[in-house]
Amino acid sequence: MKRSQAERRLRDLRAELRHHDYLYHVKDRPEISDEAYDALFAELRAVEAAFPDLVTPDSPTQRVGGAVFDRFPTVPHAAPMLSLDSDRDEAAVRRFDARLRKELGDAGVQYVLEPKLDGASVELVYEDGALVRAATRGDGVNGEGITENVRTIPSVPLRLDPRGPAVGFVALRGEVIMRLSGFEQLNERLLEQGGEPFANPRNAAAGSLRQLDPTITAQRPLDLYVYDVLAARGVSFASHDAMLTAIRTWGFPVSELIRSGRTADDIVAYHAGLLARRDDLDFEIDGVVIKLDDVAARDRLGVTARHPRWAYAFKFPPRKEVTRVLKIIASVGRTGVVTPVAMMRPVELGGVTVSRATLHNREEVARKDIREGDLVRVQRAGDVIPQVVERIEESDRRRGPRFRLPDTCPSCGTGLIERGPFTVCPNGFRCQAQLAGRIQHFASRHALDIQGLGEESSKLLVAEGLVTRLDQLFDLTEQDLLPLEGFAEKSAANLIAAIQGAADVDVARLLLGLGIPEVGVAVARALAAHFGTLVALRAADEAALEAVEGVGPKMAEQIRAFFRDARNAEALDRLVAKVRLREAPRAASAGSALAGRTFVFTGGLAALSRDEAEALVGAHGGRTVSAVSKKTDYVVAGTDPGSKLAKAERLGVPVLDETGFLALLREHGIRA
Ligand code: IVH
Repeated sequence: MKRSQAERRLRDLRAELRHHDYLYHVKDRPEISDEAYDALFAELRAVEAAFPDLVTPDSPTQRVGGAVFDRFPTVPHAAPMLSLDSDRDEAAVRRFDARLRKELGDAGVQYVLEPKLDGASVELVYEDGALVRAATRGDGVNGEGITENVRTIPSVPLRLDPRGPAVGFVALRGEVIMRLSGFEQLNERLLEQGGEPFANPRNAAAGSLRQLDPTITAQRPLDLYVYDVLAARGVSFASHDAMLTAIRTWGFPVSELIRSGRTADDIVAYHAGLLARRDDLDFEIDGVVIKLDDVAARDRLGVTARHPRWAYAFKFPPRKEVTRVLKIIASVGRTGVVTPVAMMRPVELGGVTVSRATLHNREEVARKDIREGDLVRVQRAGDVIPQVVERIEESDRRRGPRFRLPDTCPSCGTGLIERGPFTVCPNGFRCQAQLAGRIQHFASRHALDIQGLGEESSKLLVAEGLVTRLDQLFDLTEQDLLPLEGFAEKSAANLIAAIQGAADVDVARLLLGLGIPEVGVAVARALAAHFGTLVALRAADEAALEAVEGVGPKMAEQIRAFFRDARNAEALDRLVAKVRLREAPRAASAGSALAGRTFVFTGGLAALSRDEAEALVGAHGGRTVSAVSKKTDYVVAGTDPGSKLAKAERLGVPVLDETGFLALLREHGIRA
């Protein structure tokens, strides 16, 4: 390739990759497959390797640098990063509104209402379109230079989208956050590695930004929302709304929860609305921010020593409180992990009354040294189980003995084993607590969503011996439930109806309900969308699984192991026989069930000849080819398979054995 050709190709490749990064990380609406993206990225790397002097710092290949730092430089902000005056009290917010009306007149008051994101505030500086600097808030005047770390956040553009206003210099302000799903996974990972978990997503975000090794930051699930232009040369904005539009067109994520409002009642309603949705969001917000829309009016109002007089934070009730531990119990979860749980004097956390909080594992109990009777600080984030953050020292009180987890399972009496920092009951489904936990999880909101089948009724069904396997739930009758404590005719009928209704289930929900280690809502949905059918998913090997968004090597191994386990496979077969699975076969088009699918056969089949198999595939719109490629949808491996099997495994193509193949046909209503 000639140098001039390389220059052109590099420019095109970078623009294209930037566009797809934006669609993927900011819009959450990718338009090309991971494979197609990887191919573009590989080409960019190859051309850059051939012409190293053409590598630019804003190239998509340059997100994660190699250097490790020994400290962060102090950098002055382009403009002071002010903080907000705030209150939890509605009356204070109404006073703020009244003051603005008095100074500006009713006609001048128009607000932009935003969620108050609970993360780490950052400044991002772009010169001639390229990200040149990023800093923490610090004392508001100077921050710490964390440019290399911020570059690793996928939703941070390394270059402004030229469709936005042209600016030689712009400093933006936003919030780096960690989503709750990522936060939980990170904490699990840290605990497994024997490290300390982060107390909350804000600490996790701030801590991840302050890593001296950017490759560590790159592994942390960080995200960004931008909400302000701190300073700019070459553009100005008449309103906050216009500013947000520019921020959006430059390619930054801007919260979709932002609204406009005119009156104090609008503010109160917005606050109440977001408070009600708080637990459903995948990130923490700790209030709402009210901003005067008109920039000229803002300038007239000015700032106090620390706060702008044109903005106000209306905070939510706190999710952190102090209470006393009454008792510590050992709770056996659905996966057999025995968790120390603090039973506490009930306390209100962000609008919900809480009386139990997790102490994670025996190492955490030891580290925090929490004992029965202690005064503790507890907190809650999203739907996440409340946790004990720390003990509060009381000099004048004699403390009880240290807490120790028992040696045997409090539910089934089996000897407990230690797995890393965790203590585990190895008795599986035969342990009543684990079975009840599995049922409860199976019935939970994002899984089969069976109303009325919560913790208590799950325990009851297990204790009464009515359910020893998940599929038996679907055999329950009203007569079974009526003799149980707490059930009357109506509640029994309701639960049975709910169970029968839930039998109509899609793959994602069923998958989540199975309780495969590490598979949460997002991953279950991604797996279902990717594979379309349960059969395809069950046949997938690690490489095929890793091709799915959010699935790493460890998770792929867990999923594969789960489906490989003979007992799981049997339980799943029984379950599938009792539900009506709604599947969305990949790329199937009307009329022909296997349209667009390519098959490769290797090895001998027993129930039908190779010709018959190929004819069946062809008759239903599928295609049989002889060579395995990345595009192959399935390799069907019979007895004595050839090298095609190895190739399929290498490429991550789903492999079906004969039973799997027949099941796939059945699923599509094809009779062999
Ligand atoms: S505006 C002059 N908007 O809340 C404007 N701040 O003290 C100042 N925050 O640490 C900030 N979400 O990092 C603004 N939508 C939002 C925000 C927000 C979160 C943080 C900010 C600061 C604190 C306010």
